[in-house]
Amino acid sequence: MVDVDSFIDEATAEIREQVGDEHAIIALSGGVDSSVAAALAYEAIGDQLTPVYVDTGLMRKGETEGIRETFAFMESLRVVEAQDRFFDALSGVTDPEEKRKVIGEQFIREFEREAKDTDAEYLVQGTIYPDRIESEGNIKSHHNVGGLPDVVDFEGIVEPVRDLYKDEVREVARALDLEEVVAERMPFPGPGLAVRVIGEVTPEKVEVARDACHVVEEETEEHEPWQAFAAVVGKATGVKGDNRVHGWIVSVRSVESRDGMTARAQELPWETLQRIQSRITGQNENVARVVYDVTHKPPATIEYE
Ligand code: XMP
Repeated sequence: MVDVDSFIDEATAEIREQVGDEHAIIALSGGVDSSVAAALAYEAIGDQLTPVYVDTGLMRKGETEGIRETFAFMESLRVVEAQDRFFDALSGVTDPEEKRKVIGEQFIREFEREAKDTDAEYLVQGTIYPDRIESEGNIKSHHNVGGLPDVVDFEGIVEPVRDLYKDEVREVARALDLEEVVAERMPFPGPGLAVRVIGEVTPEKVEVARDACHVVEEETEEHEPWQAFAAVVGKATGVKGDNRVHGWIVSVRSVESRDGMTARAQELPWETLQRIQSRITGQNENVARVVYDVTHKPPATIEYE
C-alpha cells in the first residue's frame, strides 16, 4: 500500500498543477472511487471544481439524500434530476449490453450539458487500476471508463486514483474523513439497478429491486459479504390472502470475493434467508417469490446482466 498521507499530498499537488486557474468538473456516482477523486480535487482546487451527481432513477435507496449530506461541504455540488429522461431512453430496451450503452449515452448527454454550463476545461474521473485492466480486456463495457473525453472537448483528464486498488482507495477515503458509509460501501455497478432487473427497465421493477436490495444489505451486514443484493428476475405465481397473484421473482445474491474477478456464493443461515424473504414479500404485494442464488463466479457473474 502507498503511504496515504504522502499520496494525498502528491495527488492534490498534481491536481493543482494540472488544473491551474481553470475550472474542473467531476461526475459523482456515490461510489467510493469517484467520492475520493472528488474529495482530493476539492481539497486541491476548492470551488474551481463542480461535482455533478446525476440522479438516474437507478440508484440505491437513499443514495441521493446521502450524497447531499456527505458532500454538503462542497458548495458547488449540482444534483441533476434525470430519472424521467433515463426511463424514457430505456423504454423497450431488453438486451444487457444495449442497456449499458443507452445509460452511458444518456449520462453523457446530461453531463455534457453541465460541463458546457460551467465552462469546465478539465474532467476529473475516479478511474481505478482494475477498471483500466478490465476495460483493456473488454470483459464488460464499464460506463465509467472512456466515452466522456471523446464527446466533450476537455483540455485534460485528471485521474487522481488511477494507480490504486479498491482497498487502497478505501484507505484514502478514511484518511480524508469521508463518512464511514462511503469508505466501507459495497461495490455497485455503474449502470445501477438497470442490471438488477432482467428485461425491460421499468420504474415498477426498479422500485422492487431497490427496496429488496436495501433489505438484503441490512440483513447480511453482520455476515460481511463482499457484495450482497437482490435482482428482479421474472414472474411467477403466488398466493396473497385468498388470491392467486402473478408476481415478481426476486433473486437474492450474497458473495464473498477479494476483487470481484471470482466469487463464492455465501452460506447464509436459514434464519437470515427467511427474514429476507419475509421482509421482501411483506413490503411489496407484487413479489410472489424470493429465491437464493447459490452459484459461484465462475460459472455465473456476480451481477445478473
Ligand atoms: P460481474 O457481474 O462482471 O461483476 O461479475 C464484477 C464486479 O463489477 C461490478 N460491475 C460493474 N461495475 N459498471 C461498473 O462500474 C458495470 O457495468 C458493471 N458490471 C458489473 C459488479 O457489481 C461486481 O462488483
